[in-house]
Amino acid sequence: MIHIKTPEEIELMRHSCLLVGEAHATAAKEMRPGIRTMQINDIVETFILDHGGIPSFKNYNGYPYATCISMNEAVVHGFPGDTILKEGDVISLDIGIYKNGFHGDSAYTYALGNVNDDIKRLLKITKESLYLGIQKARSGNRIGDISNAIQEFTEKQNGFGVVRELVGHGLGRKMHEDPQVPNYGKKGQGPKLKPGMVLAIEPMINLGTKDIDFLSDGWTVLTRDRKFSAHFEHDVAITKGEPDILSSFAPIEKVEKENPYLTWCHN
Ligand code: MF3
Ligand code: CO
Repeated sequence: MIHIKTPEEIELMRHSCLLVGEAHATAAKEMRPGIRTMQINDIVETFILDHGGIPSFKNYNGYPYATCISMNEAVVHGFPGDTILKEGDVISLDIGIYKNGFHGDSAYTYALGNVNDDIKRLLKITKESLYLGIQKARSGNRIGDISNAIQEFTEKQNGFGVVRELVGHGLGRKMHEDPQVPNYGKKGQGPKLKPGMVLAIEPMINLGTKDIDFLSDGWTVLTRDRKFSAHFEHDVAITKGEPDILSSFAPIEKVEKENPYLTWCHN
């Protein structure tokens, strides 16, 4: 069942979603070679609790941490731990915050120091595909219009692998609501979009094969060919007019310009 949100509920959601962007920025400030992924997790968790939120992911179906930190060949759902960041790492950080009865859920992929041109292209194209998908998040369109826009650009035009097993989702009082939002599919298919729907759109795009492996920890997802992967996620409300992006990458992009280890994308 798809839950339609009132304008008041959308504003509560916007608050949770914007807080996720601020949590990202707080973590991004600390990203440098030598820091452990668990330190990044703890920075985010402290930020969430200090701002009156609850980490959405912690204890969700038994997930043990406040964040997912998926490095390099990890696609999503990586555990933070003892891994020490080093130059050349690609870090997908996924954060969810529950506050005032609603979840915000947003992911961003960072590159530390210099990375090769293939990886730069992967990150750029994955992020652009998210915005192409968002442009289709309009009343009267269907979920398949979003899915198709993402797949056409990443897979057909750029030759990357679109993960099939994991999808975006409705978002609201629960972190995962209907409908599912695949990153592949056909135009004109799937549920019709209506004002008041909120979608978490989250392309997970691989440099090589679309195929993935699930690690024996029960969570971590790796690319089968162990080539790198990227993940960007925004929360978007359907309106009568333009798509309303409730989350924001602006605080993150500001830090990317200031943190010398994250400046590659602005060169
Ligand atoms: N952004 C992810 C999702 O939408 C986060 C879920 S991680 C989990 O599914 F551990 F909470 F499951
Ligand atoms: Co999500």
